[in-house]
Amino acid sequence: MSLLRHSLVLSILLASPAAAQNLDSLLARMTLEEKLGQLNLLSAGGRASPAQMQLAREGKLGGLFNVIGAENTTPVQRIAVTESRLKIPLLFGLDVIHGYRTIFPIPLAEAGSFDPDAAQATARAAGLEAAAAGISWTYAPMVDIARDPRWGRIAEGSGEDPYLGSLMAAARVKGFQETIFATAKHFAGYGAAEAGREYNTTEITERTMRETYLPPFKAAVDAGVASLMSAFNDIAGVPSSGNAWLTDTVLRREWGFNGFVVSDWTSVAELIQHGVAAGPSEAGRRALTSGVDMDMQSSIYVDSLPALVRANRIPMAVVDSAVMRVLRAKMRLGLFRDPYRARTTPPVAETRALARRVARESIVLLKNDRNVLPLGRNTPTIAVIGPLADSKVDPLGPWHTLGQPEDVVTVLQGIRSHASATHVLYARGAGIDDSSTAGFAEAVAAAKRASVAVLVLGEREDMSGEAASRSMLGLPGVQEQLLEAVAATGTPVVLVLMNGHPLILEWAADHVPAIAETWFLGVEAGNAIADVLFGDANPSGKLPVTIPRSLGQIPLYYNHRNTGRPFEANNKFTSKYLDVPVTPRYPFGFGLSYTTFAYSVQLYVHDEVASVARPVRELKGFQRVTLKSGESRAVDIRVGVRDLAFYGLDMKRVVEPGTFRVYAGPSSAEGQEARFEVIR
Ligand code: BGC
Repeated sequence: MSLLRHSLVLSILLASPAAAQNLDSLLARMTLEEKLGQLNLLSAGGRASPAQMQLAREGKLGGLFNVIGAENTTPVQRIAVTESRLKIPLLFGLDVIHGYRTIFPIPLAEAGSFDPDAAQATARAAGLEAAAAGISWTYAPMVDIARDPRWGRIAEGSGEDPYLGSLMAAARVKGFQETIFATAKHFAGYGAAEAGREYNTTEITERTMRETYLPPFKAAVDAGVASLMSAFNDIAGVPSSGNAWLTDTVLRREWGFNGFVVSDWTSVAELIQHGVAAGPSEAGRRALTSGVDMDMQSSIYVDSLPALVRANRIPMAVVDSAVMRVLRAKMRLGLFRDPYRARTTPPVAETRALARRVARESIVLLKNDRNVLPLGRNTPTIAVIGPLADSKVDPLGPWHTLGQPEDVVTVLQGIRSHASATHVLYARGAGIDDSSTAGFAEAVAAAKRASVAVLVLGEREDMSGEAASRSMLGLPGVQEQLLEAVAATGTPVVLVLMNGHPLILEWAADHVPAIAETWFLGVEAGNAIADVLFGDANPSGKLPVTIPRSLGQIPLYYNHRNTGRPFEANNKFTSKYLDVPVTPRYPFGFGLSYTTFAYSVQLYVHDEVASVARPVRELKGFQRVTLKSGESRAVDIRVGVRDLAFYGLDMKRVVEPGTFRVYAGPSSAEGQEARFEVIR
């Protein structure tokens, strides 16, 4: 495949001193404006504007994003490589988050598959489609650990666990980078936004940063990620887009990262709003000298920094290092050799099949009382109800790039094609977030005529993702009332949830016999959901996040520390609430199957006594196993001594001798327990 060819050529170029010398001599020929131009990244509205074309001609542009389609990337690239003085090619970026045209499950859903190979495969397929459209660089994977379901961008990441998050990060980087460059974002701590409010400030200790928020970035770096994106948030007063400790000390010096760092959208200019820079020049100086190489959308580097460099307020060596990182990336990608990039035609049928398989694997069965599921194919009448049951837009999720509604198989369509012998009734019942109950009567009537009612409820696709934090996590609008009205008919209800935020649904958890969490599954949503509802696929997804019982429990995550007064039911003076249990409604790692045949084994460890209190459990390994009826199998999950390390009192990694508990089981709240000892 052409991309493999690229990377091969790339390593040859990197290994060749001649190539390095070429870049050195290129740098030596660049004017200051051309150097800062390489650090300038702008968004286009589908195609480059005349002004952007002129910047490319003048050598004042390093890359563009949101230029869609090879027919639009090619003309502006031609200007860069034929009309600009130094003929340096442009990078073309895009947010290819979970698919380019063929949309896969949102990353949070896919993390629930606990299947890094699947994540690698979908990233590979997305990269192929994007590359065919002229894209050379995606702003993914988003690897922010998120412990707060109110935060809308929880949908874009892998959930709350650093171990799972790290595996998914590495897998996605490898998948994308078979064809295009990946970007691990948002460096760092964005998911810790206080109160889950988008763009909010954070307070993260160095230990929590290193143990919880940074591991997926480290995994991405170790997997060879080409770039990182600096985050919007500040950490205890130091904005991530001007944070030398993060970008220079940790990323470059400790981890040896030799790719480049791009800012988030205007996050360089936002240093002014944060209150750490008085104006654009200071903001630009702070960001660049902290190690942010490329300026996305602020135009500050290119417009305001030449004067500062000339006044010796920014050393030329700092500019040169940043420029070289960008140029090396372009060389590594093969852009100097092939600026238009060899185009391949992505395989459509295989990609759809992959979308369906991964969507199935991502579905988490939360409840299945009285074996309501799977539905028999001969079920005489099924009522399919709810505002999301026949939605062609929402299954695409909050950031679906070029995903098209006409590509989506809805739940209603999926059920109809699976249940040919069954009479399928459909009633929308209500809107997603409006207040009208006018459609309830039709929905109730349909449920009364049916032997089972499948309710497809949840959030609209734009209710999660960026700038979509929610302070309430119930079903929007009158959907909960619709659910109650249908359940009151006595017809068994299967609740199929589509959502980007983890939802708090206590009434449903208590009263509805079967609940399947499907998040947003992409173009094959309806087929995958029907596969699971009818038992063609045994559900195997697990929760990548904790589902709380109430908003007041947030933040709630499984790998918390113990406190000096851990919960005891009969002791008032222990850590708990008066009005809600301390436990979640559904714990991290939880998910049912129809049979005991498919089982996923999760392995957690707890360091009992250490110089720094350790989490009650930490995921250290897992395995998906599929067993036939009557079959048993030994599962081998290895945890190395180094995997037991933590940051000690001196913030150095250490494995302290002593006893550990190990738990093996189907979720973070269950399992068999054993102990072992680490001897000096
Ligand atoms: C988001 C990034 C994204 C960028 C470019 C920003 O608003 O925070 O995740 O990559 O826009 O589209």
